Amino acid sequence: MENMEDIYVEALKVSNKISERAIREAIKDLGLFAGAKVLDVPCGIGNHISWMLDENDKVNITGIDIGKKQLAYAKNLVAEKDPDANCKFQENDINKLELEDNYFDFIWCCDGLWPGKLLSGYPHLESALNNTKTANRPFRENGNPDLHILRTPSWFKKVGLNKITVKSYAADIYNVNPDMFAVMPLLFQMFWSQAKPEVSEEIWQKYTDIINPKSENYLLKDDCYTGLMTYTTYIATVEK
Ligand SMILES: C[S@@+](CC[C@H](N)C(=O)[O-])C[C@H]1O[C@@H](n2cnc3c(N)ncnc32)[C@H](O)[C@@H]1O
Repeated sequence: MENMEDIYVEALKVSNKISERAIREAIKDLGLFAGAKVLDVPCGIGNHISWMLDENDKVNITGIDIGKKQLAYAKNLVAEKDPDANCKFQENDINKLELEDNYFDFIWCCDGLWPGKLLSGYPHLESALNNTKTANRPFRENGNPDLHILRTPSWFKKVGLNKITVKSYAADIYNVNPDMFAVMPLLFQMFWSQAKPEVSEEIWQKYTDIINPKSENYLLKDDCYTGLMTYTTYIATVEK
């Protein structure tokens, strides 16, 4: 792997496959209409945009991401899927966006991955890894509770959006195919690769052992592995 962006592209291919059913279900619930202007930030490798186009190929989508490689992959994916799709892509930092007020009908912001239940058979190990600053990014330790993602409704209310719905979607992982078997460690890396300084040597050794496809203790070595990831959508509607 050349750098973190390459790892990210590969990791997103895996995680997007796992989450596809749940995300497609969430997209279906959006009610995308012909001509709707949609902002997807961060758009990653463009799979969510592709699934939105499956839902309604008459939407106008702007995909923004800070990662050059993710964007290049996304552009290619969408161009191959539908050369006539109304999609444009921008390389930009989510913290520095200058977008026209009241322009978009939908803003899709799916980070989207918070660790779910992935280290089956090792709940204590998973709890220890999740109890790190890394696993709880972007929330800072002792941060303002109102900035926690689960308090999204308070952000909406602050800008006058009161008609809010919350719904969670689950993606089960079972019977992963051989291709995914080899690349699942990239998914674990996406969550916990930087947790090493925050956990004990013993925990780190055990963790790296069970996520190593060459180890006899590799988590996915038999077909009994199951995992779970969850996604929560917060939707606020503007009444016109
Ligand atoms: C976990 S991925 C999610 C991508 C996509 N929404 C999905 O769920 O497949 C996170 C993405 O955020 C992008 N990203 C990280 N920091 C960013 C920033 N400051 N501005 C814009 N994008 C950013 C990364 O390049 C990466 O593609």
